[in-house]
Amino acid sequence: MVCLGNICRSPLAEGILRSKLSEDIFTIDSAGTGDYHIGDLPDKRSIEVASKYGIDITNQRGRQFSVTDFDLFDYIYVMDNSNFKNVVKLARNETDIAKVKLILNEIYPNQNYDVPDPYHDSQQGFENVFKMLDEATDVIKEKITKH
Ligand code: 4NP
Repeated sequence: MVCLGNICRSPLAEGILRSKLSEDIFTIDSAGTGDYHIGDLPDKRSIEVASKYGIDITNQRGRQFSVTDFDLFDYIYVMDNSNFKNVVKLARNETDIAKVKLILNEIYPNQNYDVPDPYHDSQQGFENVFKMLDEATDVIKEKITKH
């Protein structure tokens, strides 16, 4: 799960998907394309909305997306079109590029919608992001547990 800072959106996406899948089978992680928040806790508004829905994300720390993530993960879900461009820039080949998907395309195929960056928004913005990610991760769960 990838966003810009790895403190608002992608920690939520990671926490929500972790809560739906067996950690014995799936490796789930998140990262930011930027380096501003390496080592930081998720934003307290993300911690709060996750906690409201019974998910603890306080074990997460910010890290930057790295080219080795293309080798470690089968699917790379990005939150917005800017993240998409930044991740694809690091791709080494077509196999890497094929792993990168806009997460909201799971619910709205081919629409290329962004999960809005809630950083400058209110708690309601984080609530909205949580709902979008909850829906998208339901679809992801269905897809990756089917085969
Ligand atoms: P995120 O939100 O990409 O959802 O983690 C942001 C958090 C911090 C910054 C940008 C986006 N920042 O520029 O510090």
